[in-house]
Amino acid sequence: MNITVCFDRLDPAPWVQGLQAALPQARVAAWAPVAPPADHAVVWAPPQAFIDEQQGLKTLFNIGAGVDALLQLRLPPTLQVVRLDDAGMSVQMAEYVCHAVIRHFREFDAYDADVKAGRWSYRKPRSRADFPVGVMGLGVLGERVARALQMFEFPVNGYSRSPKQIDGVRGFAGAQQLGDFLQASRVLVNLMPLTHETENILNRSTLSQLQPGGYLINVARGRHLVEEDLIALIDSGHLAGATLDVFRTEPLPPEHPFWHHPRITVTPHTSARTLRDESIAQIAGKILALQRGEPIRGVVDHQRGY
Ligand SMILES: NC(=O)c1ccc[n+]([C@@H]2O[C@H](COP(=O)([O-])OP(=O)(O)OC[C@H]3O[C@@H](n4cnc5c(N)ncnc54)[C@H](OP(=O)(O)O)[C@@H]3O)[C@@H](O)[C@H]2O)c1
Repeated sequence: MNITVCFDRLDPAPWVQGLQAALPQARVAAWAPVAPPADHAVVWAPPQAFIDEQQGLKTLFNIGAGVDALLQLRLPPTLQVVRLDDAGMSVQMAEYVCHAVIRHFREFDAYDADVKAGRWSYRKPRSRADFPVGVMGLGVLGERVARALQMFEFPVNGYSRSPKQIDGVRGFAGAQQLGDFLQASRVLVNLMPLTHETENILNRSTLSQLQPGGYLINVARGRHLVEEDLIALIDSGHLAGATLDVFRTEPLPPEHPFWHHPRITVTPHTSARTLRDESIAQIAGKILALQRGEPIRGVVDHQRGY
Protein backbone atom coordinates (compact mmCIF):
# COMPACT_ATOMS: atom_id res chain seq x y z
CA MET A 1 0.00 0.00 0.00
CA ASN A 2 1.33 3.45 -1.01
CA ILE A 3 0.43 6.58 0.93
CA THR A 4 1.42 10.03 -0.25
CA VAL A 5 1.42 13.27 1.73
CA CYS A 6 0.75 16.46 -0.24
CA PHE A 7 0.75 19.75 1.66
CA ASP A 8 0.78 23.36 0.62
CA ARG A 9 3.10 25.52 2.76
CA LEU A 10 3.44 22.92 5.52
CA ASP A 11 6.38 20.59 6.10
CA PRO A 12 5.26 17.04 5.24
CA ALA A 13 8.32 15.38 6.86
CA PRO A 14 6.93 14.84 10.40
CA TRP A 15 3.64 13.56 8.96
CA VAL A 16 5.45 11.12 6.66
CA GLN A 17 7.48 9.91 9.63
CA GLY A 18 4.45 9.60 11.92
CA LEU A 19 2.30 7.79 9.34
CA GLN A 20 5.16 5.44 8.50
CA ALA A 21 5.58 4.59 12.19
CA ALA A 22 1.84 3.99 12.57
CA LEU A 23 1.60 1.91 9.35
CA PRO A 24 4.93 0.03 9.04
CA GLN A 25 3.55 -2.22 6.31
CA ALA A 26 2.82 0.79 4.03
CA ARG A 27 5.17 2.91 1.91
CA VAL A 28 4.68 6.53 2.95
CA ALA A 29 6.29 9.40 1.03
CA ALA A 30 5.89 13.12 0.44
CA TRP A 31 4.43 13.87 -2.97
CA ALA A 32 6.56 15.30 -5.75
CA PRO A 33 5.43 15.59 -9.38
CA VAL A 34 5.65 12.28 -11.26
CA ALA A 35 5.59 10.28 -7.99
CA PRO A 36 4.48 6.63 -8.17
CA PRO A 37 0.71 6.14 -7.87
CA ALA A 38 -0.63 6.08 -4.31
CA ASP A 39 -3.67 4.34 -2.81
CA HIS A 40 -4.39 6.97 -0.17
CA ALA A 41 -3.34 10.61 0.18
CA VAL A 42 -3.09 12.84 3.22
CA VAL A 43 -3.55 16.40 2.03
CA TRP A 44 -3.74 20.06 2.87
CA ALA A 45 -4.66 22.40 -0.01
CA PRO A 46 -3.19 20.13 -2.72
CA PRO A 47 -2.78 21.53 -6.26
CA GLN A 48 -5.09 20.35 -9.04
CA ALA A 49 -1.99 18.82 -10.70
CA PHE A 50 -1.76 16.36 -7.79
CA ILE A 51 -5.35 15.15 -8.25
CA ASP A 52 -4.97 14.94 -12.03
CA GLU A 53 -1.74 12.95 -11.77
CA GLN A 54 -2.74 10.53 -8.97
CA GLN A 55 -5.42 8.64 -10.87
CA GLY A 56 -5.29 5.55 -8.63
CA LEU A 57 -6.24 7.31 -5.39
CA LYS A 58 -9.04 5.73 -3.37
CA THR A 59 -9.12 8.12 -0.43
CA LEU A 60 -8.16 11.72 0.21
CA PHE A 61 -7.66 12.41 3.92
CA ASN A 62 -7.93 16.15 4.63
CA ILE A 63 -5.99 17.26 7.71
CA GLY A 64 -8.74 19.67 8.73
CA ALA A 65 -12.47 19.47 9.48
CA GLY A 66 -13.56 21.90 6.74
CA VAL A 67 -13.35 20.67 3.14
CA ASP A 68 -14.72 23.74 1.32
CA ALA A 69 -11.35 24.54 -0.34
CA LEU A 70 -10.71 20.90 -1.27
CA LEU A 71 -14.12 20.59 -2.93
CA GLN A 72 -13.24 23.52 -5.21
CA LEU A 73 -10.85 21.15 -7.03
CA ARG A 74 -12.03 18.91 -9.87
CA LEU A 75 -12.25 15.59 -8.02
CA PRO A 76 -13.26 12.26 -9.57
CA PRO A 77 -16.77 11.51 -8.19
CA THR A 78 -15.57 8.11 -6.97
CA LEU A 79 -12.71 9.58 -4.91
CA GLN A 80 -13.61 9.28 -1.23
CA VAL A 81 -12.88 12.49 0.72
CA VAL A 82 -12.49 12.12 4.48
CA ARG A 83 -12.33 15.04 6.91
CA LEU A 84 -10.80 15.01 10.40
CA ASP A 85 -13.38 13.86 12.88
CA ASP A 86 -12.58 15.86 16.02
CA ALA A 87 -9.01 14.56 16.55
CA GLY A 88 -8.57 16.93 19.49
CA MET A 89 -10.28 19.91 17.86
CA SER A 90 -13.63 19.92 19.65
CA VAL A 91 -12.18 20.58 23.10
CA GLN A 92 -10.17 23.50 21.70
CA MET A 93 -13.29 24.88 20.02
CA ALA A 94 -15.27 24.49 23.25
CA GLU A 95 -12.67 26.39 25.27
CA TYR A 96 -12.37 29.15 22.64
CA VAL A 97 -16.13 29.71 22.40
CA CYS A 98 -16.76 29.49 26.15
CA HIS A 99 -13.93 31.95 26.69
CA ALA A 100 -15.43 34.39 24.17
CA VAL A 101 -18.97 34.05 25.56
CA ILE A 102 -17.86 34.42 29.17
CA ARG A 103 -15.55 37.33 28.40
CA HIS A 104 -18.46 39.15 26.76
CA PHE A 105 -21.10 38.16 29.35
CA ARG A 106 -18.91 39.04 32.36
CA GLU A 107 -17.67 42.27 30.70
CA PHE A 108 -14.04 41.34 31.22
CA ASP A 109 -12.91 43.78 28.50
CA ALA A 110 -14.51 46.64 30.43
CA TYR A 111 -12.89 45.43 33.69
CA ASP A 112 -9.52 45.29 31.89
CA ALA A 113 -9.93 48.87 30.75
CA ASP A 114 -10.90 49.97 34.27
CA VAL A 115 -7.93 48.21 35.82
CA LYS A 116 -5.56 49.74 33.25
CA ALA A 117 -6.96 53.15 34.22
CA GLY A 118 -6.44 52.35 37.93
CA ARG A 119 -10.19 52.17 38.64
CA TRP A 120 -11.58 49.67 41.19
CA SER A 121 -15.09 49.43 39.77
CA TYR A 122 -18.01 47.01 39.95
CA ARG A 123 -20.57 46.29 37.26
CA LYS A 124 -24.08 45.07 37.94
CA PRO A 125 -24.22 41.27 37.58
CA ARG A 126 -26.04 40.25 34.39
CA SER A 127 -28.49 37.39 34.16
CA ARG A 128 -27.56 34.32 32.10
CA ALA A 129 -31.22 34.00 31.14
CA ASP A 130 -30.78 37.24 29.15
CA PHE A 131 -27.92 35.72 27.13
CA PRO A 132 -29.29 32.73 25.21
CA VAL A 133 -26.54 31.38 22.99
CA GLY A 134 -27.39 30.06 19.53
CA VAL A 135 -25.00 27.49 18.12
CA MET A 136 -25.30 27.36 14.34
CA GLY A 137 -24.14 23.93 13.19
CA LEU A 138 -24.48 21.00 15.59
CA GLY A 139 -21.87 18.69 14.12
CA VAL A 140 -18.73 17.31 15.69
CA LEU A 141 -17.62 20.75 16.91
CA GLY A 142 -20.99 22.48 17.42
CA GLU A 143 -22.40 19.74 19.63
CA ARG A 144 -19.34 19.81 21.88
CA VAL A 145 -19.57 23.60 22.10
CA ALA A 146 -23.29 23.45 22.94
CA ARG A 147 -22.63 20.97 25.74
CA ALA A 148 -19.75 23.04 27.12
CA LEU A 149 -21.92 26.18 27.20
CA GLN A 150 -24.58 24.26 29.14
CA MET A 151 -22.00 23.63 31.87
CA PHE A 152 -22.02 27.39 32.50
CA GLU A 153 -25.83 27.36 32.58
CA PHE A 154 -26.40 29.55 29.53
CA PRO A 155 -29.66 28.80 27.73
CA VAL A 156 -28.53 27.11 24.50
CA ASN A 157 -30.30 26.99 21.13
CA GLY A 158 -29.00 24.80 18.31
CA TYR A 159 -29.47 25.06 14.56
CA SER A 160 -28.72 22.33 12.04
CA ARG A 161 -29.75 21.21 8.56
CA SER A 162 -31.61 18.15 9.79
CA PRO A 163 -33.42 18.01 13.18
CA LYS A 164 -31.12 17.06 16.04
CA GLN A 165 -31.90 16.32 19.68
CA ILE A 166 -29.40 17.24 22.35
CA ASP A 167 -30.54 17.16 25.98
CA GLY A 168 -31.23 20.67 27.25
CA VAL A 169 -30.61 22.31 23.85
CA ARG A 170 -33.59 23.90 22.10
CA GLY A 171 -33.30 22.61 18.56
CA PHE A 172 -34.14 24.37 15.28
CA ALA A 173 -33.60 22.87 11.84
CA GLY A 174 -33.71 23.93 8.22
CA ALA A 175 -34.05 27.29 6.50
CA GLN A 176 -37.69 27.65 7.59
CA GLN A 177 -36.67 27.71 11.28
CA LEU A 178 -33.65 29.99 10.88
CA GLY A 179 -35.63 33.13 11.79
CA ASP A 180 -37.05 31.56 14.97
CA PHE A 181 -33.57 30.35 15.95
CA LEU A 182 -32.02 33.81 15.48
CA GLN A 183 -34.84 35.58 17.32
CA ALA A 184 -34.41 33.19 20.26
CA SER A 185 -30.66 33.92 20.49
CA ARG A 186 -28.58 36.83 21.70
CA VAL A 187 -25.10 35.40 21.22
CA LEU A 188 -24.56 33.61 17.90
CA VAL A 189 -21.80 31.05 17.42
CA ASN A 190 -21.19 29.96 13.82
CA LEU A 191 -19.95 26.40 13.38
CA MET A 192 -21.42 25.46 10.02
CA PRO A 193 -19.40 24.24 7.06
CA LEU A 194 -18.96 26.64 4.14
CA THR A 195 -21.23 25.43 1.34
CA HIS A 196 -23.24 27.14 -1.39
CA GLU A 197 -26.16 27.18 1.10
CA THR A 198 -24.24 28.81 3.94
CA GLU A 199 -22.00 31.32 2.13
CA ASN A 200 -22.87 34.89 3.27
CA ILE A 201 -25.47 33.52 5.70
CA LEU A 202 -24.30 35.98 8.38
CA ASN A 203 -25.58 39.21 6.83
CA ARG A 204 -27.62 42.29 7.70
CA SER A 205 -30.92 40.45 7.38
CA THR A 206 -29.98 37.46 9.56
CA LEU A 207 -27.80 39.25 12.13
CA SER A 208 -30.42 41.94 12.69
CA GLN A 209 -32.82 39.21 13.86
CA LEU A 210 -30.65 38.49 16.90
CA GLN A 211 -31.96 39.90 20.15
CA PRO A 212 -30.88 43.51 20.88
CA GLY A 213 -27.31 43.64 22.18
CA GLY A 214 -26.48 40.59 20.07
CA TYR A 215 -22.96 39.26 19.82
CA LEU A 216 -21.36 37.20 17.03
CA ILE A 217 -18.66 34.56 17.42
CA ASN A 218 -17.52 33.32 14.00
CA VAL A 219 -15.21 30.33 14.22
CA ALA A 220 -16.20 28.54 11.00
CA ARG A 221 -15.23 30.31 7.77
CA GLY A 222 -14.75 33.96 6.77
CA ARG A 223 -17.03 33.64 3.73
CA HIS A 224 -20.02 32.96 5.96
CA LEU A 225 -19.96 36.61 7.01
CA VAL A 226 -20.72 39.77 5.05
CA GLU A 227 -18.12 41.82 6.88
CA GLU A 228 -19.47 45.31 6.13
CA ASP A 229 -22.94 44.27 7.39
CA LEU A 230 -21.42 43.25 10.72
CA ILE A 231 -19.62 46.58 11.12
CA ALA A 232 -22.80 48.50 10.23
CA LEU A 233 -24.86 46.56 12.81
CA ILE A 234 -22.26 47.06 15.55
CA ASP A 235 -21.88 50.77 14.75
CA SER A 236 -25.68 51.22 14.77
CA GLY A 237 -25.78 49.66 18.25
CA HIS A 238 -27.93 46.63 17.36
CA LEU A 239 -25.02 44.29 17.96
CA ALA A 240 -22.74 44.69 20.96
CA GLY A 241 -19.69 43.27 19.20
CA ALA A 242 -18.02 40.20 17.80
CA THR A 243 -15.19 37.74 18.26
CA LEU A 244 -13.86 36.59 14.90
CA ASP A 245 -11.34 33.84 14.22
CA VAL A 246 -11.85 33.53 10.46
CA PHE A 247 -11.95 36.08 7.65
CA ARG A 248 -12.75 36.38 3.95
CA THR A 249 -9.07 37.14 3.35
CA GLU A 250 -6.47 35.45 5.54
CA PRO A 251 -4.13 36.71 6.83
CA LEU A 252 -6.38 39.66 7.64
CA PRO A 253 -5.02 42.56 5.50
CA PRO A 254 -3.22 45.26 7.55
CA GLU A 255 -5.69 47.97 6.50
CA HIS A 256 -8.78 45.92 7.44
CA PRO A 257 -11.15 47.79 9.84
CA PHE A 258 -11.57 44.67 12.06
CA TRP A 259 -8.03 45.07 13.43
CA HIS A 260 -8.79 48.25 15.34
CA HIS A 261 -12.56 48.17 15.84
CA PRO A 262 -13.13 48.68 19.58
CA ARG A 263 -15.94 46.09 19.73
CA ILE A 264 -14.34 43.41 17.61
CA THR A 265 -11.87 40.85 18.92
CA VAL A 266 -9.74 39.19 16.29
CA THR A 267 -7.69 35.97 16.48
CA PRO A 268 -5.62 34.48 13.63
CA HIS A 269 -7.65 31.37 12.66
CA THR A 270 -6.49 29.53 15.72
CA SER A 271 -9.65 28.47 17.57
CA ALA A 272 -9.15 24.74 16.86
CA ARG A 273 -5.79 23.69 15.48
CA THR A 274 -4.97 20.39 13.82
CA LEU A 275 -3.04 18.28 16.31
CA ARG A 276 -0.51 16.16 14.45
CA ASP A 277 -0.26 13.07 16.68
CA GLU A 278 -4.04 12.76 17.15
CA SER A 279 -4.65 13.28 13.44
CA ILE A 280 -2.05 10.73 12.35
CA ALA A 281 -3.49 8.16 14.77
CA GLN A 282 -7.00 8.79 13.42
CA ILE A 283 -6.01 8.63 9.74
CA ALA A 284 -3.89 5.49 10.25
CA GLY A 285 -6.80 3.84 12.09
CA LYS A 286 -9.14 4.67 9.22
CA ILE A 287 -6.74 3.33 6.59
CA LEU A 288 -6.58 0.04 8.49
CA ALA A 289 -10.38 -0.03 8.83
CA LEU A 290 -10.75 0.52 5.07
CA GLN A 291 -8.32 -2.36 4.43
CA ARG A 292 -10.55 -4.58 6.56
CA GLY A 293 -13.56 -3.40 4.58
CA GLU A 294 -15.12 -1.60 7.56
CA PRO A 295 -17.05 1.69 7.33
CA ILE A 296 -15.34 4.86 8.61
CA ARG A 297 -16.62 8.15 10.00
CA GLY A 298 -16.03 11.54 8.44
CA VAL A 299 -16.68 10.67 4.79
CA VAL A 300 -17.68 13.84 2.93
CA ASP A 301 -20.81 13.95 0.79
CA HIS A 302 -19.65 15.74 -2.40
CA GLN A 303 -23.21 16.90 -3.22
CA ARG A 304 -23.96 18.28 0.25
CA GLY A 305 -20.54 19.95 0.41
CA TYR A 306 -19.53 18.74 3.89
N1 LIG B 1 -11.58 28.14 12.99
C1 LIG B 1 -11.03 26.96 13.08
O1 LIG B 1 -9.92 26.82 13.59
C2 LIG B 1 -11.80 25.76 12.61
C3 LIG B 1 -11.32 24.48 12.93
C4 LIG B 1 -12.06 23.38 12.53
C5 LIG B 1 -13.25 23.54 11.81
N2 LIG B 1 -13.66 24.79 11.50
C6 LIG B 1 -14.93 24.96 10.75
O2 LIG B 1 -15.99 24.38 11.51
C7 LIG B 1 -16.89 23.75 10.60
C8 LIG B 1 -17.74 22.73 11.34
O3 LIG B 1 -16.95 21.60 11.68
P1 LIG B 1 -17.63 20.23 12.18
O4 LIG B 1 -16.56 19.23 12.28
O5 LIG B 1 -18.47 20.49 13.38
O6 LIG B 1 -18.60 19.92 10.93
P2 LIG B 1 -19.77 18.85 10.81
O7 LIG B 1 -19.56 17.76 11.79
O8 LIG B 1 -19.84 18.50 9.36
O9 LIG B 1 -21.09 19.64 11.26
C9 LIG B 1 -21.69 20.62 10.47
C10 LIG B 1 -23.01 21.05 11.11
O10 LIG B 1 -23.53 22.15 10.34
C11 LIG B 1 -24.87 21.84 9.95
N3 LIG B 1 -25.18 22.43 8.63
C12 LIG B 1 -24.57 22.22 7.44
N4 LIG B 1 -25.17 22.91 6.48
C13 LIG B 1 -26.20 23.56 7.05
C14 LIG B 1 -27.22 24.42 6.57
N5 LIG B 1 -27.29 24.76 5.28
N6 LIG B 1 -28.12 24.89 7.45
C15 LIG B 1 -28.06 24.54 8.76
N7 LIG B 1 -27.13 23.73 9.29
C16 LIG B 1 -26.21 23.24 8.44
C17 LIG B 1 -24.92 20.33 9.87
O11 LIG B 1 -26.27 19.89 9.94
P3 LIG B 1 -26.65 18.31 9.98
O12 LIG B 1 -26.33 17.88 11.40
O13 LIG B 1 -28.10 18.28 9.68
O14 LIG B 1 -25.78 17.64 8.95
C18 LIG B 1 -24.07 19.95 11.09
O15 LIG B 1 -24.85 20.00 12.26
C19 LIG B 1 -15.97 23.18 9.52
O16 LIG B 1 -16.66 22.95 8.31
C20 LIG B 1 -14.92 24.26 9.39
O17 LIG B 1 -15.29 25.18 8.39
C21 LIG B 1 -12.97 25.89 11.88
